[in-house]
Parts: sequence; C-alpha cells; structure tokens
Amino acid sequence: MFNYTCLNPIANVGLDLLTDDYKKVDDLADAQAVLVRSAAMHDLELPEGLEAVARAGAGVNNIPLDKCAEKGIVVFNTPGANANGVKELVFAGMLLAARDVVGGINWCVSEAGNADIAKVAEKQKKNFAGTELSGKKLGVIGLGAIGIKVANAARHFGMEVYGYDPFISVNAAWSLSRDVKHINDLETIYKECDYITVHVPLMDSTKKMISAEAIAMMKPTTVVLNFARDLLVDEEAIVKALAEGKLRKYVSDFPNPTTVGQPGCIVSPHLGASTEESEDNCAVMAVKEIRDYMENGNINNSVNYPRCDMGVCQTTGRVAVLHKNAKGAIGSFTAILADAGVNIDNMSNKSKGDFAYTMMDVDATVSADVAAKLGALPEVFKVRVIK
Ligand code: MLT
Repeated sequence: MFNYTCLNPIANVGLDLLTDDYKKVDDLADAQAVLVRSAAMHDLELPEGLEAVARAGAGVNNIPLDKCAEKGIVVFNTPGANANGVKELVFAGMLLAARDVVGGINWCVSEAGNADIAKVAEKQKKNFAGTELSGKKLGVIGLGAIGIKVANAARHFGMEVYGYDPFISVNAAWSLSRDVKHINDLETIYKECDYITVHVPLMDSTKKMISAEAIAMMKPTTVVLNFARDLLVDEEAIVKALAEGKLRKYVSDFPNPTTVGQPGCIVSPHLGASTEESEDNCAVMAVKEIRDYMENGNINNSVNYPRCDMGVCQTTGRVAVLHKNAKGAIGSFTAILADAGVNIDNMSNKSKGDFAYTMMDVDATVSADVAAKLGALPEVFKVRVIK
C-alpha cells in the first residue's frame, strides 16, 4: 500500500488510475508520493518517508529540486502534457497584441442600449484597428514541447519563424517544421523579430534573460510574449520601454504589481495550461510516472534524477539506490549484495549531475538488514526494496 497526497486539486481522470494499492492521506507527513500543481514546496518539511513528487505541469520552480534529490526524493514533471493549451494561448496573446480586440469589446459594452451602435461602430472601429500576423517575423526562444508547437503553428499563420535553442533535443529537432529558421544567436532574434516568445525553464542561468540590454536591441514595434515564467524577463525594463515607446506590447501570463495595469501590458492570470484537456493530460501523465516509480522503480521524466527504466522486474527481487554520483559507489553496493549471497542478474546505473540512480534485479529478496547496510553508505540518500 502506498500513501499519497495532493497539494492541489488534480484531475480525476488521473487519480482514477490509482489502484486500491494507493491510499489518499491529508497530511504530507504520512505521504510517500505527492501530486502537486503550483503549491510552493520550498518551505515545507519533507518527511523521511517521502519518495516521489510529481508536478502536473512543466515548470518546477515551486519545488526544491536539490533538497529533494539529497533526501532521495525523485521529482517528476509532465513535459508536453499541457503544451497545446499553452500554444493556443500564445496565439491568443499575439492576436490581442496585434489588434485592440479587448478595447473594441469594452467599447461595445459601454454602448449597450445604444440603438445606433452598428452605425457608430463603423466610425469608431478605426480606434481598435491593428496589424496581421501573416508576414511578420516570430522569434521563438526555447524549442521544447511548447516552443516547437508555437513555431510550427506560426508557419500556418504565414509568419516567418526564427527558432533559437542551443540545447534542442534530437526528438524536438525532428518535430520542428523545416521552414523554421535555425538561429544561433539571440541578438538576431532581438534585432529582427516583430514578435518574440520565450519558452525556456526558469533557472538561475535564465533569470531575467530578456534583460534591459536585450530589450534595447528590439524594434519599437516588437511584441514580447511571456507564457513561461515572469522572472525570465526584466519586467521593470519592459514597462520602461513601453512607456518610452520603445516596445509595442508585452503579453504575460503571470500577473504581478510590476506589469498589471501598465500601458502596453496585456496580462492574463496564468491561464496557459488551464484547459480541461491540459489538466487531464497532466494528471494522467503525473499519475503514470508515480505508479511506475512506486511499483517498478522506473524513472521517466524526472527533473532531479536520471532516466532509468528496467521495465517490470522479472527476477526474484529488485532494489534501487538513490545516491551521490561518486567514485566507487557501485562497487560498494555490489560488495554488500555479494556478502549477503545475493546475485545481481541485471543492473542499470545512471547519473544526472551530482545525483545517480542504481537499480539492481537480484536472485533473492533483499532483506531489511542488507537494505540498511546499503543505506548506511555515506554516498547513499535512500534505498528502496521494490520487490
Ligand atoms: C506549467 O508550468 O506547466 C504551466 O505554467 C502551467 C502550470 O503551471 O500549471
């Protein structure tokens, strides 16, 4: 039996995949697995028994990744599961920036009851006119699941698309339309694009990457779109540039006092992934990741531990060790198992930065005593006897 808790509401279509082997608990202290959306976990006390956290979404800046890794807690996210929802809102953002649709709608509301509204509208509409997306240059910074969808769809809007991502994966590259121009330097995007949309994770290295210097390179007609995280952009510099007429619009999905209500800022309340489909997709993916980890020890889509998947265990026992990526670690594990007369049939060892994961399929059930010996090694964070 595994105990789990939800720190935010998680779609039932995902929770329904949890079998009778999973019991919902209210208190984090009693949970082995956590499902979370945007709840801030940085200041939470992480219980010793906690083994996995699954974020139903892409961004993981609400979770202390290294602190979790050092406690042997694997953190998962659901890359791509809400990508279509976010992509669609990026296009809404571009269209709202291109024409004053909101101003026009508000004008209609203000004229409610005016019998002549149709006639008056023909005179007023010039106040809300704008430009088209077709033929404009779009710069997409970050070609992950969302960036790729935005780039490809923009081609269907007739936009010229520039894509930038020095870390693009092979799969992502295969999914990208060949019409997207591969750009190697951000300066080209800043200087040439009419619309610039950012789709990178928030990390120390990406904080305020859209800096005052970057903004200064942009054309006064440029629209910046941010559906990733507000801290990626120097928003004070954005607001200043808008006030000075050096930028056309800033579209952000992250409301805060710096941008809300400022001229030129179009701000929505973090709606990118707030669609039924995205919430369902994220919940299903998060629950599947948790189940595969709790039941089989397999790690897929973790952001703090390496991918490691040995399928379903076919031998008598399976033990997993979460440990430092340190010299001699595997030798110590195998020596302890050999001393206990346990033979390793199959094993996999993977690392990600400072953290590593070793999974061993063995010919006997690993006893509590042997597990304790493994757990007492200085480089080991956690040991899980899975079978
Ligand atoms: C994400 O990180 O997946 C999106 O910002 C949506 C969300 O936070 O739920």
